[in-house]
Amino acid sequence: MGTTLLTNIAQLVTVDATGSVLQNAAVLICEDRIQWIGAAAEAPTADTVHDLTGKTVLPGWVDSHSHLLFGGDRAEEFVARMAGQSYAAGGIAVTTSATRNLTDDELTNLVTSRRAEALSMGTTWMETKTGYGLELTEEIRHARLGGPIVDTLTFLGAHLVPAGSDADEYTDLVAGPMLDAVAEQVDFVDVFCERGAFNEEQTRRVLQAAQDKNLSTKVHGNQLGAGPGVKLAVEFGSHSVDHVNYLDDSDIQALAGSWSKWDRQTRSGKPGTVATCLPACDLSTRQPLAPGRELLDAGVNIALASNCNPGTSYTSNMNFCVATAVLQMNLSLAEAIEAATYGGALALGIADQVGSIEVGKRADLHVLDAPGAAHLAYRPGMDLTHSVYQAGQLVR
Ligand code: NIG
Repeated sequence: MGTTLLTNIAQLVTVDATGSVLQNAAVLICEDRIQWIGAAAEAPTADTVHDLTGKTVLPGWVDSHSHLLFGGDRAEEFVARMAGQSYAAGGIAVTTSATRNLTDDELTNLVTSRRAEALSMGTTWMETKTGYGLELTEEIRHARLGGPIVDTLTFLGAHLVPAGSDADEYTDLVAGPMLDAVAEQVDFVDVFCERGAFNEEQTRRVLQAAQDKNLSTKVHGNQLGAGPGVKLAVEFGSHSVDHVNYLDDSDIQALAGSWSKWDRQTRSGKPGTVATCLPACDLSTRQPLAPGRELLDAGVNIALASNCNPGTSYTSNMNFCVATAVLQMNLSLAEAIEAATYGGALALGIADQVGSIEVGKRADLHVLDAPGAAHLAYRPGMDLTHSVYQAGQLVR
């Protein structure tokens, strides 16, 4: 691959610890890594040069929450919701049936094209979850097929108790044989801790089983109402708690406390539990937007993710999520970009590799056809992605 120089960049948003933004800048890529960053006038020579006059360069998006392993869609449910019905976890079962009908090739092709679609919009690292299998062989199949397509794989056997199953017996299956079968293939274990899904005690059992296997955890928490999800995530040292729509002061304090051994200035120390906000899901379910502003003000690291899935958020467009966070959640543009890059990387435990443009990190870069990153929110809904580099390779 040799070296590639991106030069004459109008605005380079590094998302490094000091939040430095450079004008008329250049980035040198060597193989899959960032080798040099500085003023265009001082740039070294390279085998290949790309002139990015008038363009903005950001880190690639790190989408830390999605559910790409599904068949069918739930447009009718969405239309009914827009007509006033409320979202309930039970809709997951509709997708589970549709997904079980797919052959391995069909499911693989769907997930591959969804991953490619996200990449073309600047998502250079993407997590996805199992969770539309909900029986032993299906969860194993989804983990086997999904793992090679995405960058981080999460086991979400505890997504919904299948109809006709006893909740405690199903929890034993998830925390026992299912987890045993997928443990080698997954990076995280997640639980939907919510009314209509898994209660506190069942959530604890799954998180404990994961911890016993030294697997990192996540929790879907406080999405549809107040509940124990946030505090369980903090207690178990989960990398993230996702959704976080219904928080009281004690939830926010618990999350803030988890970051007490983290130095924000130097980005060093012991990371706490990231609060992952999912604005596209909040809009699509007409839930109150997650309190990202309050969380940041309390000292919590937040992530923004797409939550791409057929029930609550059928989009993987991170530009849209960032624009919504600025326009509707009172985040500054810099805060929203950081949450969708470095924040996502923290939520996935990969912040030493990706999530910012720094020498030595993987060369994951998102080029906007705009003179400044502000255009992401200033021109919402426009296709601003000009090109994308993933591990140093031009992929769009
Ligand atoms: O993250 N909250 C649970 N899981 C998904 C929804 C899945 C569905 O309704 O199909 C979510 O929103």
